[in-house]
Amino acid sequence: DGLTAFRNEPLADFTVAELRKAFPEAIAQVRGEAGRVLPLVIGGKSVETDDRIPSVNPADPGEVLANVCQAGTVEVDAAIDAAEAAFPAWRDASPKERADIILKAAAIARRDIVALSATQVLEVGKQWDQAYNDVGEAIDFLEYYAREALRLGAPKRMGREPGEKNHLFYEAKGVTAVIAPWNFPLAISVGMTSAAIVAGNTVVYKPSSLSSLTGYGMAEIFKEAGLPDGVFNYCPGRGSVMGDHLVEHPKVSTIAFTGSMETGLRIQEKAARVQPGQAYCKKVIAEMGGKNAIIIDDDADLDEAILGVVYSAFGFQGQKCSACSRVIVVDSIYDKFVSRLTEACGSLRIGPSEDPENAMGPVVDPSQQKKVQEYLRIAHEEGQVLVERQTSGPGYYAPLVVVAGIRPEHRLAQEEVFGPILAVMKADSFDQALEWATSTRFALTGGVYSRSPKHLEKARREFRVGNLYLNRNCVGAMVGRQPFGGSKMSGVGSKSGGPDYLLQFMEPRVVTENT
Ligand code: SER
Repeated sequence: DGLTAFRNEPLADFTVAELRKAFPEAIAQVRGEAGRVLPLVIGGKSVETDDRIPSVNPADPGEVLANVCQAGTVEVDAAIDAAEAAFPAWRDASPKERADIILKAAAIARRDIVALSATQVLEVGKQWDQAYNDVGEAIDFLEYYAREALRLGAPKRMGREPGEKNHLFYEAKGVTAVIAPWNFPLAISVGMTSAAIVAGNTVVYKPSSLSSLTGYGMAEIFKEAGLPDGVFNYCPGRGSVMGDHLVEHPKVSTIAFTGSMETGLRIQEKAARVQPGQAYCKKVIAEMGGKNAIIIDDDADLDEAILGVVYSAFGFQGQKCSACSRVIVVDSIYDKFVSRLTEACGSLRIGPSEDPENAMGPVVDPSQQKKVQEYLRIAHEEGQVLVERQTSGPGYYAPLVVVAGIRPEHRLAQEEVFGPILAVMKADSFDQALEWATSTRFALTGGVYSRSPKHLEKARREFRVGNLYLNRNCVGAMVGRQPFGGSKMSGVGSKSGGPDYLLQFMEPRVVTENT
């Protein structure tokens, strides 16, 4: 079909002068449209509701970017009805027809990459490069899953028994609820949604209320790409009002969720209970939290390790499920590493993410801000705070914190903060570091900086996390190269951006014919 092999979108390159110039212009453009009312989109029609939530700039919460209409249960029902009505025709379209639309969506996102990035800079406080790479990842998901749908679309002949023909093939299941987070507001939304859609399902999408403007960008992309009405329904709403209703709805067959462990577990519990009229056992795909560690071995290249740890811990203010929140340092290199780490953390500039000189910006909302302050209080109780950088201002700034003296039993070694707090742990040996690294209920990402082949080999075997990075930072998994996702309390379901992901949205069937 003439499709080239999948390749990742290039990462942001701000040595390119046009790109540097384009960002402030695009940011101004988002500001120029600020304050508009965003409707729901149900069955291709815009629907306004009276309940609205302003989406604001976390660096300056007085700045309202959009007023987002909120779905109640009535609108959720309407969206599910629209998705159900659109389902049979979409299921029966050929994989190629579906993939073509998804590839067109990729081209549109690529064309608009700076504008889509600028929205995130203002709406969630992503640094330029982080925002750009989020959109790049969204494009990757579209390109990758379109190819996956074509690969899986061909029926497979099973066995060679004379007198019979067996064909295995995959078919869409129905209405998928996509419940998305704010931290990768386009990439993860597009990933979950496009996987469901390209596989032949229809979607009711609930963006986070903190990133609904970015989520609306996806609705516009799909519309322009020519997705039939009702296949994708944009349905922001308050979790407390419509979250359970969406999950428990008898017509929803699959739920794709990314967010906190608490919400993920609640969704699994709700989805497990069969509702009157329900035809499917609901399948839940949930990407949840992490308490990720990077180990610094005694022979680590510290130039690399410091950069990798600082980027993994404080990029986008540490608000990534993949972020490094524990660094476990082998005793003999401890003093050297820690003094360089504290120095590096002291030199990071903090301020609004729209200024590219700032390495760290505000956290996303007041509740995140409060949570980080609370863990700072705990850090003072449990360890020795080496770095505490408070930033004042109108924005939702949380302190950048490095705390040493943390041991496995401490809360700072076990609980996900989802903010810029890094716990430092001193281990007697590499073996102890490895043991500590996996001593949480999470198993998402991890990293090791070491030059010892023996230690790297041991980590490969025993550092049991979904994504382990040897001599690399532990964030920014690349679609198609580092399929992403964890186990234990970090989630259920197979890895996004990998060869098993699409299968979760499909039903395998076998037809046997005697010949
Ligand atoms: N995929 C992201 C990362 O690897 C997290 O969601 O950082």
